[in-house]
Amino acid sequence: MDNRPIGIFDSGVGGLTVFKEIRDLLPSENLIYFGDTARVPYGGKSVQVIQKFSSEIAHFLELQNVKMIVVACNTASALALNKLKTSTSLPVIGVIDPGVRAAIKVAGNGVVGVIGTRGTILSGAYQERVTRLRSNIKVVARACPLLVPIVEENLMNSDIARLTLEMYLGDFKKMGISSLILACTHYPLLKPLIAEFFSDSVALVDSACETAREVKEMLVARRIANNDVRHGSEQFFVTDSPESFATIAGDFLGRPLAGECILHSWQTEFE
Ligand code: DGL
Repeated sequence: MDNRPIGIFDSGVGGLTVFKEIRDLLPSENLIYFGDTARVPYGGKSVQVIQKFSSEIAHFLELQNVKMIVVACNTASALALNKLKTSTSLPVIGVIDPGVRAAIKVAGNGVVGVIGTRGTILSGAYQERVTRLRSNIKVVARACPLLVPIVEENLMNSDIARLTLEMYLGDFKKMGISSLILACTHYPLLKPLIAEFFSDSVALVDSACETAREVKEMLVARRIANNDVRHGSEQFFVTDSPESFATIAGDFLGRPLAGECILHSWQTEFE
C-alpha cells in the first residue's frame, strides 16, 4: 500500500487524455497533473530545451513526493525520456512504446499514418518502432504543429481546425491509410474532427489506454499500488493562466475543476 501520488505531465492540456485513462483504470490512486502552459508548445523546441523543461518538471514532481512519473507528452517522451530515467530513482513511463503497441494491434496490412509534433516526427521514434515490429508495413509520417495551439485555444470544432487538417492531411486521403497514430497527446481532443475528416474510414490510435495499463502493471510489479477504497485525490498544477486550463480541462473531463481539484500556479524560472 503506497498512497503517494502519481505525477503526470505534459506541455499543456494534451496529457489530460492520458490522465483520464489513468483515472478511469485506477480510481483509488492520488494523481497530480502538471501542464507547462507557460511554455507550450514543446513540439518545435530543441532537444536540449525539452530535456531541461522535463527535468525541471520531474524535479518539481519529486518535491511533491510522487511515486512514479508519467511523461504524458510524446515530444518529451521522444526527446527526454532516457535522460529522465537516468536522473531519477522513480519509475518513469513514456507514451511512445504504449502508442506503438496500440497501433500494432489495429494496423493490419494497410499503410500506417503517424501525425505528431515536429520534435516527435523528426525523432523517428514511431516510424522506427513500428517498422521494427512489423517490417513489411509502410509508414507515412507528418508533423502537424498548428494542431497543438488549436487545442490549447479550445478551437477543436472550428473551421480553422478543419482547414488545418485539410492542409496537413489532404494527401493522406489518397495514400490508402488504414490507421492513423495520433502521436501527440493533444490530438485525441480532435478525434471527432479527424474521424469526420477521414469519413470514419481510418482507425484512430492513441497511447492513452495502453499507457494507463502500463502504469497499472508497474504499480503491481513494484508493489506500490494504493489499495485504499476511497476515490483518489487530484491536483492540477499549471505554469500560467489556471482559468483557461480549467475551462478546457473541465470540458474534457466532464466536471468542473473544483473542490479536491485545486489549481495551483507554479512559476518557472525564466533565464
Ligand atoms: N502534447 C505533447 C505531445 O504529445 C506536446 C505538444 C506540444 O507542446 O507541442 O507531443
